[in-house]
Amino acid sequence: MESCTKQTKKIVIAIDGFSSCGKSTFAKQIAARLGYIFIDTGAMYRAVTLYALDHDAIRSGIVDEERIIALLPEIDITFRFNPQRGASDIYVNGVLVEGRIRTIEVSNFVSAVSSIAQVRSKLVAMQQKMGERRGVVMDGRDIGTVVFPDAELKIYMTADPRVRAERRYAELQAKGDEVSFDEVLDNVISRDKADMTRTISPLRQATDAIVLDNSRMSIAEQMEWFDGEFERIQKQLATGK
Ligand code: DC
Repeated sequence: MESCTKQTKKIVIAIDGFSSCGKSTFAKQIAARLGYIFIDTGAMYRAVTLYALDHDAIRSGIVDEERIIALLPEIDITFRFNPQRGASDIYVNGVLVEGRIRTIEVSNFVSAVSSIAQVRSKLVAMQQKMGERRGVVMDGRDIGTVVFPDAELKIYMTADPRVRAERRYAELQAKGDEVSFDEVLDNVISRDKADMTRTISPLRQATDAIVLDNSRMSIAEQMEWFDGEFERIQKQLATGK
């Protein structure tokens, strides 16, 4: 695969889907394989949520939309490649927040924050800029529908909610986060609902996206599936068929 990437056309790969489907892991692997830039857009919504929590724009479980909108101009999000992780770490105003954005507290408020129109328009504009030169793998909820409707390859990922909760639970446990399995499962189910039913840019499958259900797939099988799809798209681009 590596040897043929030189002759392939640089494209945008949009990966959308439910939370905890392994989108980021998959996107990161694809990016490493193709020498593309990987952008985790969920991390950007999480970073804004964390900033809102740190600046009293979410208090006693209440999300103060007006205050979050007022904070937006002072939020500068950047990514820096971390060779140890093989992916980029996220910074807010120069401060590394990678380790703090995946707590259950941030997860509980990120759907509400990401449904604010002004938050979305700021982050979507940043994402479009990051991908303007193609050669990116971007994962999120609205990449194939809103951010890059012209992406050459659109993947819509899904997996059984219990399987997803088990994966996220194992991740949180490994980090020493004290949380129950039921709390994680509830969070997965409620975020699915919130992501699909929000008014602006709800999670939905783009008409030209291909579905990948990885409930019973190993990482290696998933990659094999990707190789086939990437080759098919490259052939299509080369022949126009
Ligand atoms: O991928 P994730 O679970 O880290 O994303 C966190 C939240 O951010 C998710 O609940 C929905 C929101 N999100 C979004 O609205 N649009 C995106 N492109 C990416 C994430």
